[in-house]
Amino acid sequence: MRTTYLPLLVFGLAVLCVVGVCQAGGLRKNFYKTSCPHAEEIVKNVVWKRVASDSGLPAALVRMHFHDCFVRGCDASVLLNSTKNNKAEKDAPPNLTLDGFAVIDEVKTAVEKACPGVVSCSDIIALAARDSVAFQFKKPMWEVLTGRRDGTVSRASEAVSNIPPPTFNFASLKQNFAKKGLTVHDLVVLSGAHTIGQAHCNSFSKRLYNFSGKGDADPSLDPKYAAFLRTKCRSLSDNTTQVFMDPNSGVSFDSHYYAVVKQHKGLFQSDAALLTNKISSKIVTELLNQNTFFTEFAQSMKKMGAIEVLTGSSGQVRKKCAVVNP
Ligand code: HEM
Ligand SMILES: *[C@@H]1O[C@H](CO)[C@@H](O)[C@H](O)[C@H]1NC(C)=O
Ligand SMILES: *[C@@H]1O[C@H](CO)[C@@H](O)[C@H](O)[C@H]1NC(C)=O
Ligand SMILES: *[C@@H]1O[C@H](CO)[C@@H](O)[C@H](O)[C@H]1NC(C)=O
Ligand SMILES: *[C@@H]1O[C@H](CO)[C@@H](O)[C@H](O)[C@H]1NC(C)=O
Repeated sequence: MRTTYLPLLVFGLAVLCVVGVCQAGGLRKNFYKTSCPHAEEIVKNVVWKRVASDSGLPAALVRMHFHDCFVRGCDASVLLNSTKNNKAEKDAPPNLTLDGFAVIDEVKTAVEKACPGVVSCSDIIALAARDSVAFQFKKPMWEVLTGRRDGTVSRASEAVSNIPPPTFNFASLKQNFAKKGLTVHDLVVLSGAHTIGQAHCNSFSKRLYNFSGKGDADPSLDPKYAAFLRTKCRSLSDNTTQVFMDPNSGVSFDSHYYAVVKQHKGLFQSDAALLTNKISSKIVTELLNQNTFFTEFAQSMKKMGAIEVLTGSSGQVRKKCAVVNP
């Protein structure tokens, strides 16, 4: 008798998947509702307190979430410290700001005090990224599903091979995102995160000083803007100066990034690359509209936040985000 229901069950699940319920890979809305009812509120309160005195924090946390999800899925591997025998993602060249790590630790401490061993570090990153941007609007701009669990492995080499470098062209970016189940549309939408934050000169200074090895500038960069950037980044070896990627509204989360890109002032080759393909270029134009950008960003962030997540009994809930449980 029972076996006759099996095909029905499989069919039912398949229907749910088509409808989109199983898309998030086991994540749910308010996963901690009963196990830690105030978890999301605690995260928000700590993050808002910190963003109030550090306007660069949203950029740091959004980038941290991206780097976490692109390496082994959103499993907080980005937070693990290196050990005697292992160089972790944290210590790979695509470096993140220390501010971000400190705030995640502060959130974790607060959450552990309320509900020990319940809330994963990977969910904290996803929620903190969302809440940090929410501060500007006093409301969340995208929904974060929860129920992620933490991984136990973090390798610097995997950060290097999975995080796209700023020199990537369109084809390489497309392929890099496709490997994570993300489309060209997601690529253009998520690149819009560069509406906030800063970059170190050395991530783009070749475009200013020695683009093709002949002491030349990148012709796809607006020449006047290149000249301006040369006044900021004084030489190829400057690896300390930072420049806003969206120069006139670098701490405001808005759709202005796309105007910058269209004016050929995108800071990285990867930003400029979005104009080199017909389809992505059309999407850039569509995203100039702020409401469109906000709607699309919410959807693509949800997809990014579900990349290769560990759920159920996979992985663990770390007690301390920087180390695997003993
Ligand atoms: C499309 C491929 C991407 C490339 C090549 C890229 C590259 C970079 C680089 C080189 C920096 C500057 C780092 C530095 O010099 O300090 C940066 C900053 C940043 N990226 Fe991306 N990124 C990409 C996609 C994304 C995505 C998908 C997100 C998030 C959804 C994101 C969010 C950020 C943010 C917020 C910053 C500023 C960080 C800060 O000010 O602390 N990026 N990115
Ligand atoms: C950044 O990466 C370098 C190695 O490339 C590493 O030595 C350093 O500790 C990393 N972290 C920070 C915060 O600079
Ligand atoms: C510019 O690039 C060329 C070719 O890679 C290299 O030989 C030259 O030393 C570079 N110039 C500077 C100032 O680094
Ligand atoms: C920046 O460049 C200097 C000199 O070239 C080097 O000693 C230093 O390690 C570099 N710092 C980083 C963070 O890459
Ligand atoms: C992780 O590394 C940082 C920087 O080296 C250190 O300050 C921190 O105490 C470490 N965390 C743990 C839990 O070992």
